[in-house]
Amino acid sequence: MEIFSSRDAVHKYLLELRAAGKTIGFVPTMGALHAGHLSLIETARRQADIVVCSIFVNPTQFNDKSDLENYPRPVEEDIKKLKDAHCDIIFMPEVEEMYGKSESWHIELGDWDNILEGKIRPGHYQGVTQIVKKLFDIVQPDYAFFGQKDYQQFMIISQMVRMLHIPVQLIVCPIIRENDGLAMSSRNVRLSSEERENALALYRGLTKAAELFKTKSIDQIKNEVNAFLDSAPGIEPEYFEIYDAGNFKPITDKSAGSIIALVAARVGKIRIIDNMILKQG
Ligand code: PAF
Repeated sequence: MEIFSSRDAVHKYLLELRAAGKTIGFVPTMGALHAGHLSLIETARRQADIVVCSIFVNPTQFNDKSDLENYPRPVEEDIKKLKDAHCDIIFMPEVEEMYGKSESWHIELGDWDNILEGKIRPGHYQGVTQIVKKLFDIVQPDYAFFGQKDYQQFMIISQMVRMLHIPVQLIVCPIIRENDGLAMSSRNVRLSSEERENALALYRGLTKAAELFKTKSIDQIKNEVNAFLDSAPGIEPEYFEIYDAGNFKPITDKSAGSIIALVAARVGKIRIIDNMILKQG
C-alpha cells in the first residue's frame, strides 16, 4: 500500500497506472474508519483494479468549529485498517495542500442545498462539493463510492458531477449498522453509553416508518413517527421527512418510484443522521 500526502505525487502515480490500463476506484473519507467505510473499500475492490482512499478532515464543510476540533483522527489505526482491507493507495494531505489562502467556492446546488442537512448546516454541502471536486481532479477516478447514510450528500455530488460533466461513475453503497441497528458513523465514538442507547430511537423511528408504510398514508406515517421521536428520551429531533428518492423532493403520496425516509436528531452534543428506503425503485 502506498501513502501520499502530495497532490502532484499521487496524481502522477495514478496517471502511470491509468496509462497501464488500470481502472481506479475512489473512496473519499474523513478518516475514523469503521465497517461502513471498509464496506466501501470492499465494493471498490470488486469494481476497480486500483483502490484509492483519501483521508482528509475537510474544514470547509464544518459549520460548527467544535465539531471540527473534536472530529476523531485515529490516523495510525486508519492506516492499519486500510492495509488489512487491501486498499492500494491512501491520499492523506494536510489542509495547506488542499486549500490556498482566502479561496472561495460557490456552486449552484438549488433547493437541495437549503433543505434538511443543508438548512441545519448552512454551507456544509458547498464545502463537501468543493473538496470532492478537488479530490476528483487529483484522483480522476473511474468510479467513486459513497455511503447511503448521507443520501443528500450523494444526491448533491451526483448533481455536481452532471452539471460539471465530471467523467466518473458514482456508486451508492448500503448503510452498515451495528447489531442493534445504529447506523455506523465516525461520530458514534463520541456518544456515552447512555447517549448511544438513546440514539437507537432514530433507527427505531425508521423501522416504525417502514412498518407503517405498508398500510398508512405519508401524513399518518410522519405524524406517528414524529410523535415517537418527540417522546423518545435524550434526543432532540431535528427532522423526519419522507422524500422521493429519485428527485429528492418531499412527497405527499406513495406514487413515486422509490421513496426514502430521512431522520436527524441531536443526541447530547452529537448530531446523528440516518435514513431508510421505504420503496425500492
Ligand atoms: O462523507 C464524508 O465523509 C465527507 O463528506 C467526504 C465525502 C469525504 C467529503 O469530505
